[in-house]
Amino acid sequence: MRIMIVKNKILCFLTLFILIPTNNVSGQSVEYYEELLEAFLANVSQWEQPTDSRRFFSLCNETAKPIDHGQYDFIIVGAGVAGSVLANRLTESGKCKVLVLEAGQYENDFTDVPGFATYLVNSDFNWGYKTIPQKTSCLGMKNQQCNYPRGKAVGGSSVINFMIYVRGNKEDFERWGHRNPGWDYKSVLPYFRKTENSILDFEDPGYHGHGGPVSVETARYRPSITKIFLESAQQRGREILDYNGRDQSGYSRFQIMTKNGTRCSASKAYIQPAKNRPNLEILDHILGTKILIRDKKAYGVEFTRNCRKYRATASKEVIVSGGVVNSPQILMLSGIGPRDQLERLGIPVVEDLPVGEDFHDHVIFPALLFSTNITNEPELSTGEYISQYLNGHGLLTVVISLTAVGFESPKMILSNPRSEYAFLSAYTDQAAPFYLNFMQVTQQNYDAITQPLAGKYFWSIIPVLLHPRSTGTIKLKTRDPLDYPLLDSNLYSARYGDDMKEMLKIIKDIFDISRTPAFRSINSTYVSEPLPACTDYKFLSDDYWMCALKQLSYPVLHGVSTCKMGPKDDRTAVVDNKLKVYGIKGLRVADASVIPFPLSCHPTPAVYMVGEKASDLIRQEHGDL
Ligand SMILES: Cc1cc2nc3c(=O)[nH]c(=O)nc-3n(C[C@H](O)[C@H](O)[C@H](O)COP(=O)(O)OP(=O)(O)OC[C@H]3O[C@@H](n4cnc5c(N)ncnc54)[C@H](O)[C@@H]3O)c2cc1C
Ligand SMILES: *[C@@H]1O[C@H](CO)[C@@H](O)[C@H](O)[C@H]1NC(C)=O
Ligand SMILES: *[C@@H]1O[C@H](CO)[C@@H](O)[C@H](O)[C@H]1NC(C)=O
Ligand SMILES: *[C@@H]1O[C@H](CO)[C@@H](O)[C@H](O)[C@H]1NC(C)=O
Ligand SMILES: *[C@@H]1O[C@H](CO)[C@@H](O)[C@H](O)[C@H]1NC(C)=O
Ligand SMILES: *[C@@H]1O[C@H](CO)[C@@H](O)[C@H](O)[C@H]1NC(C)=O
Repeated sequence: MRIMIVKNKILCFLTLFILIPTNNVSGQSVEYYEELLEAFLANVSQWEQPTDSRRFFSLCNETAKPIDHGQYDFIIVGAGVAGSVLANRLTESGKCKVLVLEAGQYENDFTDVPGFATYLVNSDFNWGYKTIPQKTSCLGMKNQQCNYPRGKAVGGSSVINFMIYVRGNKEDFERWGHRNPGWDYKSVLPYFRKTENSILDFEDPGYHGHGGPVSVETARYRPSITKIFLESAQQRGREILDYNGRDQSGYSRFQIMTKNGTRCSASKAYIQPAKNRPNLEILDHILGTKILIRDKKAYGVEFTRNCRKYRATASKEVIVSGGVVNSPQILMLSGIGPRDQLERLGIPVVEDLPVGEDFHDHVIFPALLFSTNITNEPELSTGEYISQYLNGHGLLTVVISLTAVGFESPKMILSNPRSEYAFLSAYTDQAAPFYLNFMQVTQQNYDAITQPLAGKYFWSIIPVLLHPRSTGTIKLKTRDPLDYPLLDSNLYSARYGDDMKEMLKIIKDIFDISRTPAFRSINSTYVSEPLPACTDYKFLSDDYWMCALKQLSYPVLHGVSTCKMGPKDDRTAVVDNKLKVYGIKGLRVADASVIPFPLSCHPTPAVYMVGEKASDLIRQEHGDL
């Protein structure tokens, strides 16, 4: 298939086009998208992964006095998933003046195509972070580092993410709310519904919203093999259900945040409808560098654009919504963080708090690929795939052919799942950008798992460990806001190797799935060669899998908890149940970083919920409801 072709082939038939994105899918032609793709891939082939912010921002004169950008009621740092909700809701009544600072750019017709998502990580829509070299995971990735994309765009990571809609389990929210009043399931469910406009194949009544700004659909790509996955689940006694409804443990086609097959980002859902309000100012291509604090009260933000330094003041509050990596970064740069780390870097300590000390992510092991004898799933041309997309269906309406999912819990009935099985199916060349460019698996490892599948249609279950015990950290590298922070995902580090043992059990379970009558009917076979680093172990033995897990396990970009919410006596907490930073007035954090532990979710729906709830908390406090 042409669209998945690696860089140099594309360059051969490259022509340069001047593109004027219009955000009007139905009005555009197949040729328009073909040209867009070629131009984008040409950029991708030249893109160098940044190691700091200096390609985008500079501080020409550190000592220069900042230019005054004026006074606002609220300043929001980051127009990501949560920041976009706040930008909209805090300007709804017209009573408050709001400034939003966003480092990235606006989305376009290319980012709208779900099937192009894996390319976006090789572009300036991505900050381009990587973990530091790892010891117990990511060993089979380039330089033993895992890629850790984060969206740099109005809309944040929702402009580059996979759009999968999984809210989290009732038990997760009961646990969250147990020590943080107002965050239990009964309190948060109305906010999930408020954000949502769902059009699903089937849904549990009472759980979904139909008038909200975020469009949620049942995945529109429907290859026949998805039925085999669902059949195999039934053969194992699993239920087919609405996993965002009454019970989560069971199987289903994916619910995803698309509208007629195109990406529904936070920008589309929340920024576009509010953009022209006179009381809302959004600045893009801006780097917020410091929260201004006097007498333990936040009163403004310093930021930079085009070499110039600015400051704006907030009479009511500063709200940090920079996401799980950048929110801890700007807090620490402003003197809010672990005392010893700040002192070591020469940053005056304003408040000693455990910022960045609890970096949680889900774990995936995306190396279980099974061959089939399916021959009736045609590989189409790029133009044909685009034509399907323009008609609201087909491969390009989803990311990496992900079409269905299962949630497994030891008890199965009405309980919190421990693992998620994400199902995909494709030809191997279609999967290449995901493994090689997105995850940055080394060529040798990629060859070992895919060469035996050459030319064949395969399926895979990507297992997700939903409640791993291991935690990592986000730390500052230096006190310079242009330096990237240090990300340590630290998977499988918890004592006793519990996470790894749990993943080992999951691998065996996935092999059991491959032996169900449904999957046998297409001759599902595990054909991978041993990973080069693991040839000392008996192939497919427990020791082999332990080795393979260290090679190809990956933090699935669901990071949370770096500015953790918790009660005052919780020494790991950074914000309280009103999202207020402990010890500082006029400062809240609202984004994925406040989520106190990994939920049985993909985080975007929960982050929308945090944004909506934050807006209500703030408006209540300032008498604007
Ligand atoms: C590739 C990928 C795939 C994913 N797939 C899914 C999925 O399928 N489903 C799902 O639910 N979740 C998915 N996620 C996770 C999800 O996108 C994030 O959890 C979610 O976007 C977090 O929202 P947020 O508001 O915390 O941060 P973000 O959405 O990341 O927004 C933060 C924003 O702040 C801006 N910013 C940061 N610092 C500054 C600064 N100093 N100055 C100015 N601006 C700043 C950033 O540029 C960004 O726009 C995925 C993530 C990635 C990267
Ligand atoms: C390619 O990069 C150039 C320069 O950064 C940019 O102007 C152009 O819009 C990019 N093209 C696409 C399709 O993203
Ligand atoms: C930097 O700013 C300071 C203060 O405004 C000024 O005195 C100095 O000349 C500036 N330096 C440069 C190189 O512009
Ligand atoms: C989806 O888009 C196609 C092509 O423009 C159109 O025919 C169809 O009516 C749309 N469906 C919905 C639900 O909007
Ligand atoms: C695929 O393999 C299965 C199991 O060996 C067999 O029953 C089936 O007929 C085969 N189908 C095709 C199309 O070859
Ligand atoms: C099933 O697939 C395997 C691996 O490709 C192959 O060796 C075997 O011959 C196939 N069996 C049948 C019955 O097609």
